[in-house]
Formats: sequence, structure tokens, C-alpha cells
Amino acid sequence: MTVRVRGLDVDLAGRPVLRGIGLDVPAGGWTAVVGPNGAGKSTLLLAVLGLRAGRGEVAVAGRDPRALRPRERARLVAYAPQHPGLPAGMTVFDYTLLGRSPYIPHLGRESARDRAVAGDVLDRLDLAAFAARPLGELSGGERQRVVLARALAQQTSVLLLDEPTTALDIGHQQQVLELVDALRAADGLTVVTTLHDLTLAGQYADSLVLLSGGRVAAAGPPGDVLTRESVAEHFGARVRVAPGPDGRPVLSPERPC
Ligand SMILES: Nc1ncnc2c1ncn2[C@@H]1O[C@H](COP(=O)(O)OP(=O)(O)OP(=O)(O)O)[C@@H](O)[C@H]1O
Ligand SMILES: [Mg+2]
Repeated sequence: MTVRVRGLDVDLAGRPVLRGIGLDVPAGGWTAVVGPNGAGKSTLLLAVLGLRAGRGEVAVAGRDPRALRPRERARLVAYAPQHPGLPAGMTVFDYTLLGRSPYIPHLGRESARDRAVAGDVLDRLDLAAFAARPLGELSGGERQRVVLARALAQQTSVLLLDEPTTALDIGHQQQVLELVDALRAADGLTVVTTLHDLTLAGQYADSLVLLSGGRVAAAGPPGDVLTRESVAEHFGARVRVAPGPDGRPVLSPERPC
């Protein structure tokens, strides 16, 4: 399923936050939205989810998410927020099961299949041993993986992940991104992530959108977007950029000499 944004403007608290944004993610594509703090990345994901009002066109699978009922939208798009509020007393399993809510009838109970899907997702994220633990007793990275588990349990065709790896160790970063990529290959999942790790963004996404000051500063294949010059201009960072073994850009921070 495709994600398409055209000429999107969003104002928050009377200030312009996004201006003239365009985004095109083909079915089965992975686009990473990168950019400095405050550039508007999270706001863009919320707009694609239909939760930030704005001017312009937003379409997920050809439909305007703002016009969908929440249940209908939750069967189409799953979202893992950057700063989720987690109920401290709820168990990991019950929280993951919330991802099945759009499939559970009103006043009904979850089915055996809903429980199996939640259990399978927890297995795949190394969280099976945590299933009975309350959320309030997890580490930052464990919490982040549980939020992803809930989103994956929704089994949607479109996945929006806002900084899914920031709290994760390097092994779990790779595990999470490989899992998302495997789902993309197997089920044709369409993925939009924000990612602060630019090398990881370039390794996994087939297309990058660099936001800066609420506008698209560059868009295209990772090697075109992640250049020494663009990183210096938009992040104020000094990096060396060299192609890795797969030709994708690898960024190394450099200290001023
Ligand atoms: N609810 C809000 N009300 C008013 N201003 C907001 C609101 N949410 C975000 N902003 C402002 O909009 C701008 C973009 O915020 P956003 O969270 O989209 O940035 P971001 O690119 O995701 O940044 P980060 O890398 O820090 O996560 C910022 O200047 C922020 O202060
Ligand atoms: Mg953000």
C-alpha cells in the first residue's frame, strides 16, 4: 500500500512546522525521514496517521487517513510513537495484545489467534521472557521493543516508526530493523521511519527524505541525500562519508583538528 503526501502544510500553536511537504512511498518501500531536532519529522508521521491537521493531500492506500474511523485506520496503519505513554501496571503481553484491538469485536474478547499473534511478535523481538512483567519494570530499550511489538501485532500493511532504535543497543537495533525488513520482504509492508542514526537509515531505507526547518531539503537514494555537505549544512556536524561494502553511505563523525 502506498503513502503519498503532496503540498502538506502544518501549523502548531500558530507557528509553521511543515511547509510544502511531498512524500511518495511505493507499496513495499521503506522511506526514512531524517533531519535535525525540531525539523518536523514526528509531526510528518502524525500527519500521515491523520492525527495532525494540515492543508494539502495525505493518502494512505489512496485514502485520506483523516476521514477514516479509528478502528478502520488501525487496520491500515500501525504507529510506534517516539515518546509513548505506557501504563506502568500493565503486562508486556496485555500491552502487545492492545495491537489486536482493531480486530476484537466491541464488548468481545480476544481470540486464540489474537493471543498467538501477540505471542509470536514477542518471540521475534526477544521479549517472550518478559510477557508477564509489568511495563513499569522494564529498561528503556525493553520498553521501546514492547512498543514496536504492539505496532507489529496490528499486522497492518503500513508501518510508521518514530525513532524505533534510539534506546536500543547495537544488537537490538539490527534485530529490530532486520525484522521490519524481513516483514517488508515477506508481506510487502510499506515502512516510514524517522531515524537519527543516519548510517542505519541509509542501510535499511531505499529512499531518504531530509527535513530541515519544516521543509524537504533533499530526497532520494541514501547516497544522494547523505553527503558531507548536506550533513554539515543541516545538522551542523562534521562527518566523513564513504561508501560501505554494499555501496551505501557510512558516516563517521570527525573532530575538528
Ligand atoms: N504539540 C505541539 N505544539 C506546538 N509545537 C509543537 C508541537 N509538537 C511539536 N511542536 C514543534 O514543532 C516542531 C517540530 O517538532 P517535531 O516533534 O515534529 O520535530 P522532530 O523533527 O520530530 O524532532 P526530534 O528530532 O527532536 O524528534 C518543533 O519546533 C516543536 O517544538
Ligand atoms: Mg521527533
